[in-house]
Amino acid sequence: MSGQRVCVSDFEEEARKVLPKAVYDYYRSGADEQRTLADNVAAFNRWYLVPRVLRDVSTVDLSVSVLGQKLSMPLCVAATAMQRMAHFEGETATARACRAVGTGMMLSSWATSTIEEVMSAMTSVGAGGVLWLQLYIYKDRELTLSLVRRAEEAGYKAIFVTVDTPYLGRRWADMRNRFKLPSHLSMSNFSTASLAFSEGNYGNDSGLAVYVAKAIDPTLCWDDITWLKKHTHLPVIVKGVLNGQDAIQAVNYGVDGIVVSNHGARQLDGVPATLDVLEDVVRAVQGRCDVYMDGGVRQGTDVLKALAMGAKAVFIGRPVLWGLACQGEQGVRELLELLKEELRLAMALSGCRSISEVSRSLVRRVEFTSRM
Ligand SMILES: Cc1cc2nc3c(=O)[nH]c(=O)nc-3n(C[C@H](O)[C@H](O)[C@H](O)COP(=O)(O)O)c2cc1C
Repeated sequence: MSGQRVCVSDFEEEARKVLPKAVYDYYRSGADEQRTLADNVAAFNRWYLVPRVLRDVSTVDLSVSVLGQKLSMPLCVAATAMQRMAHFEGETATARACRAVGTGMMLSSWATSTIEEVMSAMTSVGAGGVLWLQLYIYKDRELTLSLVRRAEEAGYKAIFVTVDTPYLGRRWADMRNRFKLPSHLSMSNFSTASLAFSEGNYGNDSGLAVYVAKAIDPTLCWDDITWLKKHTHLPVIVKGVLNGQDAIQAVNYGVDGIVVSNHGARQLDGVPATLDVLEDVVRAVQGRCDVYMDGGVRQGTDVLKALAMGAKAVFIGRPVLWGLACQGEQGVRELLELLKEELRLAMALSGCRSISEVSRSLVRRVEFTSRM
């Protein structure tokens, strides 16, 4: 069975068959008409790889250092909420798979497993793998800081603060499905029903949109980055930047990194594909902090293109959920190993023996010529 999954879309196809419709819809959807959702993937086809040959590619080293931690590859797992809807072991299965592959996992604030549970899954057998916490800033700042403190105490290595979600984007399928968590699950890091997203009634709307409007702080601004940095010794990375001016601001506010992200096209529809703005951000930052990206990465060649355009590492969201739905820990591990092998092959066939050999000259924009 697993031998038949040869690419990420095979995982998605299988996941679609096993997941309840409302769960698949929640995982898959983008905002509004989902133009950006399609474009995140399509953007990679607007770039060619221009390989070099005759370079002895018998060994290829994919390892990279991310925020001071050595990883086996520059491909990490993005925060995706509520993973126990995909598989009963949820985030703990994902953490074990990341440990096995030796990569990093960003745990969502909205996980269906606790910060501590996921850390013990990551560290229970052997070394390898890194955990970071994705942070939503709640109106209740003490509650927000309690998540940060728990992450620090548990041994998480960085805080990725999401800055693109003062309100939730309009995701039509979730609105139609009146999306909420199945009754046996909750956002495990919170103790009250209203914060754990396990109240019974969210009205005639996406339950998650109602939750965000109630709990998440829409007043968030740059000074809150200063506030957060003051309260943690961990590196702070802003997740959800698309604009070079914002990237300069982020550097001025002393962040340790930026994730070029449009939240998997789930917030504002009609924004550019992340690959299309990656270079703006890289140019604006001028090496003063790390730049990462996510959105639409589905193949090893996608990872290579993003690296060539200046990303230090890339993250994947949905593909991990498909792996989890197919076969839990084993499914995520297989998915990560597939992408790792695709990347290794893409590097070898491009003449790159290590990540440091991946340069801007490896990619060229496809020129569109009119047939008219
Ligand atoms: C089902 C789902 C849940 C997500 N939950 C979160 C979240 O809790 N916090 C967050 O910052 N981003 C969240 N994201 C966005 C991802 O971190 C990431 O930016 C995006 O999925 C990358 O795009 P991709 O799915 O095309 O790889 C979520 C994305 C999906 C698909």
